[in-house]
Amino acid sequence: MERRTIGATALDVGAIGLGCMPMSWAYSRSQQRGDRSLRTVHAALDAGVSLLDTADMYGPFTNELLVGRVLKERRAEAFVSTKCGLLVGDQHVVANGRPGYVRRACDASLRRLQTDVIDLYQLHRADPEVPVEETWGAMAELVSAGKVRALGLCAVGARSGRRGTGRDGYEGTIRQLERIQQVFPVAAVEAELSVWSQEALERLLPWCAARGVGFLAAMPLGSGFLTGTLTPGGGFEPDDPRARHPRFTAEMMAANQPLVAGLRRVAARHGADVTPAQVALAWVLGRGRHVVPVPGTKREHWAVENAAAASLRLSPEDLTEIAALPAPRGSWD
Ligand SMILES: NC(=O)c1ccc[n+]([C@@H]2O[C@H](COP(=O)([O-])OP(=O)(O)OC[C@H]3O[C@@H](n4cnc5c(N)ncnc54)[C@H](OP(=O)(O)O)[C@@H]3O)[C@@H](O)[C@H]2O)c1
Repeated sequence: MERRTIGATALDVGAIGLGCMPMSWAYSRSQQRGDRSLRTVHAALDAGVSLLDTADMYGPFTNELLVGRVLKERRAEAFVSTKCGLLVGDQHVVANGRPGYVRRACDASLRRLQTDVIDLYQLHRADPEVPVEETWGAMAELVSAGKVRALGLCAVGARSGRRGTGRDGYEGTIRQLERIQQVFPVAAVEAELSVWSQEALERLLPWCAARGVGFLAAMPLGSGFLTGTLTPGGGFEPDDPRARHPRFTAEMMAANQPLVAGLRRVAARHGADVTPAQVALAWVLGRGRHVVPVPGTKREHWAVENAAAASLRLSPEDLTEIAALPAPRGSWD
């Protein structure tokens, strides 16, 4: 697989990563099976993926434990990105950016991941009660201590498209990034970017490109919608965030089918076995040399299919067709 370099410290990763979140969190939880997820991570590494994206809150904790079982055997092949700063409570998630907490969280992640160093340690969300410089300073000390190689900031709202996440052009995130850059270099930013969520293109992606900061594209498959495998009205499990997401009502999923149809048309031009998911990933890859999509899946065959998208090259005609697709319907406003 093509390699990409992210951040000033030139972190070297496969162009497509693996989002491990759906193996232990969020989507279709009844389908989460440890053994199959382990096979999925191994299959992704076999296919040239190196960046494994996890977080202490996925599970919570069980996703890191799962990734740790793979790292124990294949540490040298993997680039592990994990996150701190969000605590899962009863029915809600709260931010904690206190330095003492960050230090303890890192030690706990290292234990669960069965490694002595985390390649990319990301602040999952800034804590409104703690100046972000304080949290970032504590994370920088982890780099000095050799527990972490580089630092990243996540800018993905649980409800994408709300103010403060995408709709404001990521103004708030950029202000935060400018502040923490004064304390210690930001190696990567993780935020939503896909054919149907392009807000990051406006200011956040150029901000990263201009400063040599890598960009991990979260939700590059539109939480599964852009793959064309979800049926409008098919329903979601009650604890699946898509059950409450305005773009995933039966009506909006039906209204947004032209997006999937467009990706399908482009895929067909590249061969009968090329999928809309692969076109969606190739489009994200094409947004810049500093961009690494991290499609999430718990399934081996999809991990392999997604990895193969690294070699799909979209033509100018494909890009024009994708640019002309209708804007997605359904928002939080
Ligand atoms: N930093 C943050 O705050 C943040 C927020 C969200 C996500 N993320 C990261 O970004 C990663 C990706 O985002 P995401 O997982 O939310 O959304 P996504 O990658 O856009 O979509 C994931 C969904 O698509 C399905 N899927 C994957 N590949 C497929 C294929 N080839 N064909 C058909 N369906 C396919 C998966 O199904 P199955 O689950 O059934 O396999 C899963 O439900 C996450 O795993 C996580 O690591 C970070």
